[in-house]
Amino acid sequence: MTEDPRPPAGGEGAAGEPGDEPATRRLPVMEPVVPPGGMPAGPPTVRLPAGPASAASAPAGPGSPARVPAQQGPGVPAGSGVAAGWVVPGGTEPVIDLVDGTKTYETGAASVQALRGVTLRVDRGEYVAIMGPSGSGKSTLMHILGCLDVLTTGTYHLSGQDVSAMSEAELAEVRNRRIGFVFQQFNLLASLPAWRNVELPLVYAGVDRRLRRERALRALERVGLADRVEHRPGELSGGQQQRVAVARALVTDPDLVLADEPTGNLDSASTEEILGLLGDVHAQGRTVVLITHEAEVAAAARRTVRMRDGLVQDDTATLAGGAR
Ligand SMILES: Nc1ncnc2c1ncn2[C@@H]1O[C@H](COP(=O)(O)OP(=O)(O)OP(=O)(O)O)[C@@H](O)[C@H]1O
Ligand SMILES: [Mg+2]
Repeated sequence: MTEDPRPPAGGEGAAGEPGDEPATRRLPVMEPVVPPGGMPAGPPTVRLPAGPASAASAPAGPGSPARVPAQQGPGVPAGSGVAAGWVVPGGTEPVIDLVDGTKTYETGAASVQALRGVTLRVDRGEYVAIMGPSGSGKSTLMHILGCLDVLTTGTYHLSGQDVSAMSEAELAEVRNRRIGFVFQQFNLLASLPAWRNVELPLVYAGVDRRLRRERALRALERVGLADRVEHRPGELSGGQQQRVAVARALVTDPDLVLADEPTGNLDSASTEEILGLLGDVHAQGRTVVLITHEAEVAAAARRTVRMRDGLVQDDTATLAGGAR
């Protein structure tokens, strides 16, 4: 990959037309995944210290992927992923291994301890719902799990890799290749048709243009949008937009799918659809962590972790006598 790390573009989110440019153009690439103004649920400081370009789209410099063992080889190999039915390769280590994680936000004179010592282990193939009152630290936790932010203290291993030891470029690499994000606000680029939105993570990963299109179209087919691939987000319903976002989250064949209130803006029919899709994703062996306020959404998951005041208050895996 030969991406050109550009400075943050002053928060502008216009994508322009990606056309057939190589992966070296200024990257709005991950903006749909991490919007330019920061995460929907949090102030802009919920970003990596290096700023928007790094958190949102920092390309890994040449050579940096070497320190990120690619589970499936460099880039996104032909013939894997969506085409293979999103089947996840096996492995024994937990996908998420967070120990005594704390996160303190310093804003001016005030400091907020958003996480106060969270230990969470999620094994490959689990489907976990994270619940808890507003302000309890759910989104903060997701930012940590998604390598969008780093712990103040504690350790986090993602698929066996110590995230705290990674450079920002490596974190960007991990985010792009190993994690699929779905947000409440969809975070699609308005100027791009559905398939272009879905292919963006592959552009960033340096995947060949033809393969990108192929994989994006297959991903859209999997979410039932084969007949909407040329539609722009404004021409799609909320549920359809979120389906595009799910396709985008899966197109890189990630280890982990993180969803922060993915049904928060949807009506009940669309909520059912999205839950059905996430259920399929889980059934195919993928690890899913979903944040929700709604009990019926959490009920779709096999395990519920409840947060309160920056701590895990209870965890059905533990309550059930699990070894975590
Ligand atoms: N970037 C930030 N800077 C300062 N404080 C922050 C930041 N992000 C979150 N916080 C604070 O950390 C605490 C946890 O916030 P967080 O967004 O994780 O809560 P949440 O459980 O996701 O809430 P909600 O259900 O409302 O989305 C809150 O007190 C919040 O005000
Ligand atoms: Mg939140």
